[in-house]
Amino acid sequence: MCGILGYIGARNGTPIVHEGLKALSYRGYDSWGIAVQDGASIVIQKGVGDITKTPVIQQHSTKVIGHTRWATHGCVTKENAHPHTNKEKTICTVHNGIIENYAELKTELEQKGYTFASQTDTEVIPHLIDFYIKQGQNFEQAFTTMLGRIEGSYAILCAHDKTPGLMFARKGSPLVLGLGKNEHFISSDIPSFLQHTQTIVHLEDGDYGKISDKIEIYNNGKQITRQPTTAPWDIEIAKKGAYPHFMIKEINEQPLTIRKALNQPAELIKQTALLLQSASTVYLVGCGTSYNACATATYQFSKSGRQTIPILASEFIQHTNFIDNKTAIIAVSQSGETADVLDAVKLAKQKGATIIAIVNVPSSTLARTADVVIPMNSGPELSVISTKTCTSQLAILYTLAFALRAKNTETIAEAADASLHLLRQHSQTMPELAKKMVDAKNIFCIGRNAMSQVAREAALKIKEVSYLHAEGMPAGELKHGSIALIEEGMPVIVFADEETRALTISNAMEVKARGAYVIGVDSKPNPAYDFHIQIPDINGLMPLLAIIPIQLLSYYLAVQRGCDPDKPRNLAKSVTVR
Ligand code: G6P
Repeated sequence: MCGILGYIGARNGTPIVHEGLKALSYRGYDSWGIAVQDGASIVIQKGVGDITKTPVIQQHSTKVIGHTRWATHGCVTKENAHPHTNKEKTICTVHNGIIENYAELKTELEQKGYTFASQTDTEVIPHLIDFYIKQGQNFEQAFTTMLGRIEGSYAILCAHDKTPGLMFARKGSPLVLGLGKNEHFISSDIPSFLQHTQTIVHLEDGDYGKISDKIEIYNNGKQITRQPTTAPWDIEIAKKGAYPHFMIKEINEQPLTIRKALNQPAELIKQTALLLQSASTVYLVGCGTSYNACATATYQFSKSGRQTIPILASEFIQHTNFIDNKTAIIAVSQSGETADVLDAVKLAKQKGATIIAIVNVPSSTLARTADVVIPMNSGPELSVISTKTCTSQLAILYTLAFALRAKNTETIAEAADASLHLLRQHSQTMPELAKKMVDAKNIFCIGRNAMSQVAREAALKIKEVSYLHAEGMPAGELKHGSIALIEEGMPVIVFADEETRALTISNAMEVKARGAYVIGVDSKPNPAYDFHIQIPDINGLMPLLAIIPIQLLSYYLAVQRGCDPDKPRNLAKSVTVR
């Protein structure tokens, strides 16, 4: 959560950082702030709300830092927006992460006479640096001393009005350098500077240093060199093109992204399947949509004779006693930075487990921690709502499940092609269905086996983007309580495939008998369905395709309800807090 960006160079960095923060706003969009060096002083502008809606800041500056916030400590106010400064506004800081010992540092500083202008944990940083400068240290030394005092996770940028360059530090939150011609960028994520340079340096945990006309990186007190690489994405993929929102663009990319997910070295899949075969237990771990992909895939693994246990990363700790060096963990994460996933992986690693990461950001912490990395190859997913990466994750998990029984992935490739037709067909029908559902008070999504997990993902999509209340559950569970909520006209989305149709239709009839408006996501029509969303019947792969029309439906519900599909309230794409 939160995005930070810094610029040092020959050009006017103010519009560059302003634009770059827009590309980072998927990381948080409660409030924003930019600090520019203007002559001898630092000028700060902040605002509450989304930076994409603010006009360009006028100051010309070659040294600029900026922040887009997802509030953790302190509510959404201008005072709590970053950058934060010392009293004299000579030192300013932007930060992504959490300073866990901020309360004791704050008390210590208050006892020394420092006063705080915000409720944030971040504000201890400029005051600590200020204190050490007043003790006689220079800015660089004071920054390093401050790092020795703070605990927690952070990516930090810090500017001082009298010292050229910017200081930076990374521990537990992402930070990447962009090397341009006569200019440098430092950011939480690559798309924020991709239009200026594709040459990047990934910083590692414990790295800190200075960017000016040159770059100095230190780790553990020693100066080190990190090799530049080329960004895996080009700028076109990070643009909306003709689409009004990233969400609809990314939904429509799926015929291509599913194919790209399948494009894995045969040896990588073979070796990973062997690993899974020989493991005593296999856990599938993720959060949000990534967890739903895990839960959906377990059914396919079962068919291959490999039992897998899907577990929400935030609940992983309860399995601690069962993890050892024979355990395999498949950690699934688009960002590779979700704190709960990283915690689970760290714990499993300490116990000797083998970590297999299915991840979209190749440079992420998860990718760098895992023993085996299977890249999703989806390109950047910039809408907060996960769509294309969900089907990529499923395609890879299915590939692994198929590999366990030496089954090739041609049918999955067929599904990728079928998704193109599906998108064309339902780009027409879903706006119509959304009109019928736009004022629904409650929506249920039901299915059996793998389709029950698709139902969970469908409900998540609808609620997170349109704010309509939706609940996903196994169809068989409906009669054990939730059916009490069915009333006249309530939409119930029913997911059925060949294996589950007979029983699921019975459940559909039960809700229909109580007045529900039944929407069937199925390859075949059925009298139980008031509205039929037809999906192709590709043997065993309906769960991969069934979510796609509901992604479209969620998008149109959001648009018709006046919600911003790319930036739903209170959410952030990459959740780096616990
Ligand atoms: C957040 C996002 C979700 C995402 C989840 C897991 O909650 O809003 O869309 O599914 O994090 O993210 P990951 O990057 O680990 O897949």
